[in-house]
Amino acid sequence: MPLPKAELHLHIEGTLEPDLAFELAARNGVKLPYADTDELREAYRFEDLQSFLDLYYELMAVLRTERDFEDLADAYLARAATQGVRHAEIFFDPQAHLARGLDMGTVVEGLWRALGRSEENHGISTKLIMCFLRDESADSALETLDAARPYLDRITGIGLDSAEVGHPPVKFREVYEAAAALGLRRVAHAGEEGPPEYIAEALDLLGVERVDHGLRCMEDPALVERLVRERIPLTLCPLSNVRLRAVDTLADHPLPAMLDAGLLCTVNSDDPAYFGGYAEDNFRAVRESLGLTEERLRELARNSFLASFLEDDEERRARYLAEVDAYAF
Ligand code: ADE
Ligand code: ZN
Repeated sequence: MPLPKAELHLHIEGTLEPDLAFELAARNGVKLPYADTDELREAYRFEDLQSFLDLYYELMAVLRTERDFEDLADAYLARAATQGVRHAEIFFDPQAHLARGLDMGTVVEGLWRALGRSEENHGISTKLIMCFLRDESADSALETLDAARPYLDRITGIGLDSAEVGHPPVKFREVYEAAAALGLRRVAHAGEEGPPEYIAEALDLLGVERVDHGLRCMEDPALVERLVRERIPLTLCPLSNVRLRAVDTLADHPLPAMLDAGLLCTVNSDDPAYFGGYAEDNFRAVRESLGLTEERLRELARNSFLASFLEDDEERRARYLAEVDAYAF
């Protein structure tokens, strides 16, 4: 059994495996511009975040009904269970679906059909985090938050994703304030392709409690010092960073230096169907390429539970941490 862990940076749409994409395409009469799964996999050669996002949004066309979202989430949870995931805080991108004519209920209720049964079916507790697309307008984000109001009992927090450069956190100040007033937790992608200034801005202007990626903080020692001092968790995604060329090779990944600096790092899979690995695959990859010790891996697993939004169930968090502590490599 792999090391028990929480997955905190996982886009549910990024778990759409080619087989399921074709199955859903057939079920819904959607024509994909690829002859088969092999030809689709050929398209998985990304140069940067945008080239990945183009394919990621294109393939979402196969998701049409509640059952599609349920099947997508259920397939992810089944896989995550084999990778030692005990708790998952799952992102979804409603704007990408609303723009295709779906409604918020189809997306949230569909996902919830799988998440609501996840503990009994897969032994994984879950939370849902609604992301805003930062390359869409601030007004669109506000409208999306409004559309989510009937479903807020299902949604733990908000996030910010999609094309980062040129779309600084400040653009979303108002919607983050509104979400905070509704009691929603706040995270945001920052410092993946964008500069370290976006990380500081996300903390100062959006009040984020966790930074997704945050990789480029390493360019600013004062920012690193602040992140350490304030115990701000970073949700790193090593295999994603290689595929989207944030780092040249896994051996160049700054994770060991980040841990040495005292940063509260976690390891996650981001969009595993596209980047070649789920949660434990990422752990295994950093272990092999970066020579992380067992105690470092245990620290990463502990961090994942410490950084998760389990304040509503501290007993559960303590149980998960005890599992990590008792784990024999
Ligand atoms: N949407 C899905 N994956 C993403 C990533 N790695 N960065 C930004 N937006 C995303
Ligand atoms: Zn991401």
